Amino acid sequence: MTLLVTGGAGFIGSNFVHHWLGQSDETLVNLDALTYAGNLGNLARWTRDARHVFVKGDIGDRALVDHLLHAHRPRAVIHFAAESHVDRSIHGPTDFIQTNVVGTFQLLEAARAHWMGLADSDRQGFRFLHVSTDEVYGSLSPTEAPFTETRAFEPNSPYSASKAASDHLVRAWHHTYGMPVLTTHCSNNYGPYHFPEKLIPLVIHNALAGKPLPIYGDGQQIRDWLYVQDHCSAIARVLQAGVTGQTYNIGGWNEKPNLEVVHTICHLLDQMRPRNDGRAYAEQITYVADRPGHDRRYAIDARKIERELAWRPAESFETGIRKTIAWYLDHQDWVSDVTSGAYRQWVDQHYG
Ligand code: NAD
Ligand code: DAU
Repeated sequence: MTLLVTGGAGFIGSNFVHHWLGQSDETLVNLDALTYAGNLGNLARWTRDARHVFVKGDIGDRALVDHLLHAHRPRAVIHFAAESHVDRSIHGPTDFIQTNVVGTFQLLEAARAHWMGLADSDRQGFRFLHVSTDEVYGSLSPTEAPFTETRAFEPNSPYSASKAASDHLVRAWHHTYGMPVLTTHCSNNYGPYHFPEKLIPLVIHNALAGKPLPIYGDGQQIRDWLYVQDHCSAIARVLQAGVTGQTYNIGGWNEKPNLEVVHTICHLLDQMRPRNDGRAYAEQITYVADRPGHDRRYAIDARKIERELAWRPAESFETGIRKTIAWYLDHQDWVSDVTSGAYRQWVDQHYG
């Protein structure tokens, strides 16, 4: 039995590889283009483990994906690969359209051809699990109820628009061709191996480096935080028991304004790694210009996955953020590899 995972060298994908190989003997083929966000250092633990087969390549490379599906005959594709950073999508949307829309289309077509060629019994069990985001639903007012799975899509950034487009493709491939797809919409993840361009790892890194902690606008934007290992357990559960053609929201029940998140990190760092000068990390907080089109609030109603698949997150924000800060303090070598770009040199040496 084999799974094909895309984007498994990124933040959530690599956490999923750890989660999966920590509890299953199933082989995992990991297709990742190793963009700036992909880091084989995240997967160092599995270098000599035959259950982890890493392939550097693009989800849009149809010949390569056809070959991998033919050679490994996976029972499922779990599709994490994407351009994922909203700020980058505002500065340059092209890669987002290419990977998130065109790449997903190519992957779907390859998976469809593979699925159609399977024997009846295997065809019934095959799954294409598409990992999407809560951002496709748009922005909530302070008093609106959290997003349910039936909420209309109102994406506001090039990133969320490209993810919404890919969600529509996945839906259509089920409706038209009968492909056994599952789609998940997750809220903001945090935890180990999070690239320090995103709020939580950026703040931890900048705080320790004595740099400003940039707060966009008034810092009152709300996100619903989910510890990444909880996201991974939810995906494993959806793969196991999700009903094909259905979508599942995954959230942490942890709505927090950004400023509160940053103050919590500062407060914990004051305890866990006090500044040499004895002053508070919160003094490094700096207000900067807001993100264009900045969504004000995301919140996930995760009752469907709890009701139908008996999944709930294990971590609260308080336990998860403490673990996350401890991980960053213990993995400063990983942080300096990423921030110095050393992990890219390694990729260049190995893949040219
Ligand atoms: P990430 O940016 O950390 O990792 C993306 C990975 O995909 C990288 O390893 C990159 O090398 C790879 N990749 C990019 N383009 C590729 C291509 N064309 N072919 C093959 N590989 C390619 O992203 P992440 O935060 O781990 O997010 C993973 C998925 O989860 C994405 O689909 C994202 O939209 C979704 N998601 C993320 C969050 C979050 O908070 N991070 C929340 C909800 C949903
Ligand atoms: O909601 C799920 C989404 O969460 C995922 O689909 C995306 O892939 C992921 O990147 C994340 O998007 P956000 O834009 O919410 O995450 P980010 O960490 O970039 O920003 C979180 C909030 O913090 C957001 O309101 C912007 C703000 N922010 C961010 C940075 C990087 C700041 O105030 N300062 C910063 O320096």
